[in-house]
Amino acid sequence: MLSTHLTQEHEWLFLKQYQRTIANKTLSTWFKENNRRFEHFSAHTDELFLDYSKNRFDETVKAGLTQLARTRGLSYKIEALFTGQAINFTERQPALHTALRDPSHEAFYVNGNNIKLEIENSLQQMAKLVERIQQGKWLGFTGKPITTIVNIGIGGSHLGPAMVLNALRNNMQSTMNCYFLANIDADASDDLFKKLNPEQTLFIISSKSFTTQETLINADAARHWLVNAGVTPQQLANHFVAVTSQTDKARRWGIAPDQILKIWSWVGGRYSVWSAISLPVAIIIGMPAYRDFLAGAHAIDQHYLTTTFENNLPVILAILQIWYTNFFASQTYAILPYSERLTLLPRYIQQLAMESNGKSVDANGARLNYASAPIMWGESGCNGQHAFHQLLYQGTQLIPADFIIPLSCHSEHFDSQHQLMVLNAISQTQALMQGKPLSTVTAELQQQGLTETEIAAIAPHKVIAGNQPTNSILLDKITPRSLGALLALYEHKTYSEAAILNINPFDQWGVELGKQLASQLLQQINQENLDSSTQGLLTKYFVTTNREISNEPA
Ligand code: F6P
Repeated sequence: MLSTHLTQEHEWLFLKQYQRTIANKTLSTWFKENNRRFEHFSAHTDELFLDYSKNRFDETVKAGLTQLARTRGLSYKIEALFTGQAINFTERQPALHTALRDPSHEAFYVNGNNIKLEIENSLQQMAKLVERIQQGKWLGFTGKPITTIVNIGIGGSHLGPAMVLNALRNNMQSTMNCYFLANIDADASDDLFKKLNPEQTLFIISSKSFTTQETLINADAARHWLVNAGVTPQQLANHFVAVTSQTDKARRWGIAPDQILKIWSWVGGRYSVWSAISLPVAIIIGMPAYRDFLAGAHAIDQHYLTTTFENNLPVILAILQIWYTNFFASQTYAILPYSERLTLLPRYIQQLAMESNGKSVDANGARLNYASAPIMWGESGCNGQHAFHQLLYQGTQLIPADFIIPLSCHSEHFDSQHQLMVLNAISQTQALMQGKPLSTVTAELQQQGLTETEIAAIAPHKVIAGNQPTNSILLDKITPRSLGALLALYEHKTYSEAAILNINPFDQWGVELGKQLASQLLQQINQENLDSSTQGLLTKYFVTTNREISNEPA
């Protein structure tokens, strides 16, 4: 337990005072003062290179932040993470997603069970299922081989596998089709089921709790669709697999026992991409590539565990984010991957970061008087440059951004284009840093022959303040290993922030409220205690769609 309140820590108080002395210092000045800034403020592992020199800080700030991390016991909390202590203290659970990618066979006990055995058994079960499907030996109800898999899941039971498969297209081993059904959007379901052949489709129901409303509704719809196609109750089992921690619930739903892949209570949903939740990934890219994905994450685990904070990539990203959210009052943080293959990465990191650290109470139950998680958002480049970079350049907010840049592509045909992607990414970080001062704008306008009056009128609109901080995260190419490393980097960044801020990154009580109200709402309609807005919206829905106002689901 931390005894001193974060904002009373010596390092915090010093940094608050020191920030005032450098708040207006420009990045351009810092680079002019030190022509080795790039060298001083970059760090790497075998898989990833981090250039964090375009940040609004100096050695004094870096020393203060790394010392603050030590004072807040980050080293002990990292140890607690890897040794399976109950760091998810509101649910009294460890958080052992790191164990899922640890190749050592050394026994590791949780509640008296050697989880390494369970993890290896799960990987073997995945491998058998993958082999049966890839070899065309898994047959549907008419005896035809399965050619299409549909993952039914949401949140961490969807975003991880969907993002990983989109990123690793070059590792696709089979001609299988893979679709994801997450939302309960009727039109989206229509669009999907039109594409499917019931004889050759296998549904993977992915749900750690096996109670998530969206997932169970979609699973029921899939079963109904199969029955309508002529599948008998006995044949249904051929078309469903489940990935869950609730094996009894899955069996009661109708999943064959040997088609249930277990995940564990000690792995959070948004940290579960390393478990059988990634069964769709393993089916499409094969177990060897999937194991490479695990190995990339394990490499970052070792880096995180053994590297001094000064060169520790997750810790550096974490302390810089705390620096901006708590000392510059920045509210959001942009994730800008310069690859269409990583288009889904911002969404994945949104859940990882915002569902983990979107908290307002510390480990002692006291309300925070400092900032926790910023709003994470983003889009692939160069698209973002034509959507929101204007606000980054001339808006009123300080918005730190991570530019994630694969240096090489897989394409043999458009390799020269990829160079433009890389150059665009690097030049954006340069332009965001340098901006365009009034003197430069004025000189350009004079060159164009404008009068002094015309220049006075237009120049202020063309000034770009610059000084927007960015990190550049380089990977040689998007591979299973480098992707695993990248995701583990953001997991440990998220955990480091939570450790320093003294919050629990592994529960999500807030989301539970939304789940409860969604299921209760119909029962509340026309009740006295329902607020007029909710009542009015519900009435509008029933009237507009000519439905009887009813407490019963449609
Ligand atoms: O969003 C809440 C949440 O519990 C996430 O943490 C989780 O990934 C998602 O819903 C799905 O939960 P389950 O895997 O239990 O269906």
